[in-house]
Amino acid sequence: MHTFQPYPADMLELNPFTKIGKEWMLITAGNKEKANTMTASWGGLGVIWGKNVAYVFVRDSRYTKEFMDANDTFSLTFFEGQHPALKYLGTVSGRDEDKIAGARFNVNYSDNTPFIDEGNLVFVCKKLSATRMTADQFIDPKLADAFYKDGDMHTMYVGEITQILAR
Ligand SMILES: Cc1cc2nc3c(=O)[nH]c(=O)nc-3n(C[C@H](O)[C@H](O)[C@H](O)COP(=O)(O)O)c2cc1C
Repeated sequence: MHTFQPYPADMLELNPFTKIGKEWMLITAGNKEKANTMTASWGGLGVIWGKNVAYVFVRDSRYTKEFMDANDTFSLTFFEGQHPALKYLGTVSGRDEDKIAGARFNVNYSDNTPFIDEGNLVFVCKKLSATRMTADQFIDPKLADAFYKDGDMHTMYVGEITQILAR
């Protein structure tokens, strides 16, 4: 396993639009017995309820959602490069194969929160809220048509960033 150091949030220099939207991240949740991960390119970082938070959007159909719901914490792992592996982890489901091993990645832990050891920046998050979107909430009706015709809605998870780890 690699060695990670705590990194102060105030020192973070990161463009969320490129880091999340273009380079992507892995959302990982679970426990020491079983964890799952999936690629995400939607989400953000910010401040609410007096806390530094990350928010991510996970569709009903994702196996990772079961782990998000069953555990109090989750992590976000960021990488330099690794697009082919992230594409794979964002295409196959952990329901169907051991995709973490398939990507030649390993699960590391911060206390009991799993993250992906091959990343170079990790946000450990404590779940604060989970809000499932519904079609009636969209002010722009085109969104419901474009993204949710099949009813596979996103749940927005807001997590307090309790630790930032850098390799
Ligand atoms: C670049 C990329 C970005 C993605 N972003 C998201 C996302 O933000 N939310 C989401 O629910 N699924 C997203 N996905 C799809 C999931 O990663 C994909 O369905 C994955 O296979 C789910 O795995 P699981 O069933 O093991 O959880 C993305 C996929 C890719 C390739």
